[in-house]
Amino acid sequence: MKGKFIAFEGCEGAGKSTQMRLLSEYLKEKNIPHTVTREPGGGEISEAIRKIILNGKFTAMTDECEALLYAAARVQHLADTVSPALARGELVLCDRYIFSSYAYQGYGRGLDMRFLRDINRYAAENYMPDVTLFLDIAPANAFARKHGADENDRIEQAGEQFHRRVYEGYCALAKEYPETFVAVDCSGTKYETSEKIIALLRGRGLIG
Ligand code: TYD
Repeated sequence: MKGKFIAFEGCEGAGKSTQMRLLSEYLKEKNIPHTVTREPGGGEISEAIRKIILNGKFTAMTDECEALLYAAARVQHLADTVSPALARGELVLCDRYIFSSYAYQGYGRGLDMRFLRDINRYAAENYMPDVTLFLDIAPANAFARKHGADENDRIEQAGEQFHRRVYEGYCALAKEYPETFVAVDCSGTKYETSEKIIALLRGRGLIG
């Protein structure tokens, strides 16, 4: 792994895509080669798996099936997109990664953490991000920002209590992995948050 790997995490509507776009613009200005990608998805096969996972019609999907599909999409995404970009020496910006599985399927759905660690071992052992940025904004505020939940998205429809547990899960993960899972306060403007992110990444020597 020659390049650097940065993952973005947070509740729905936390502003991950906006922050990734602002960071990508900064990197372009500085001529820093990078790849912007997302999970589930980020490649042809993983995007096809994404459509199955999020399909609002599949209300009977078991939590275990959901977790396994996320892990499957992840393995394929690593092979198709992340691994080649890292081998080229690029900075990889990934919208969600393994901590989404811990927060959503672990804390949200209540699945056994050992099961989640097992099915995500390939990712955890071979491709852990250099840093994961948790865009810290509570789900109620985040949904308000994006004007409510999308009715066609199975996960967004999981209910307020679910999303509250996911948020609490992220906060617990930040305590569990203090070195590599870092909360970024998003209460300011998007530009202030972006400046915080850039300062943090520069401080860690991940960008120039
Ligand atoms: P997406 O539309 O990308 O959500 P967002 O814009 O908020 O990132 O859909 C991804 C959904 O999948 C999101 O609800 C979080 C969920 N998810 C999991 O539950 N587990 C996972 O491992 C991953 C990667 C995502």
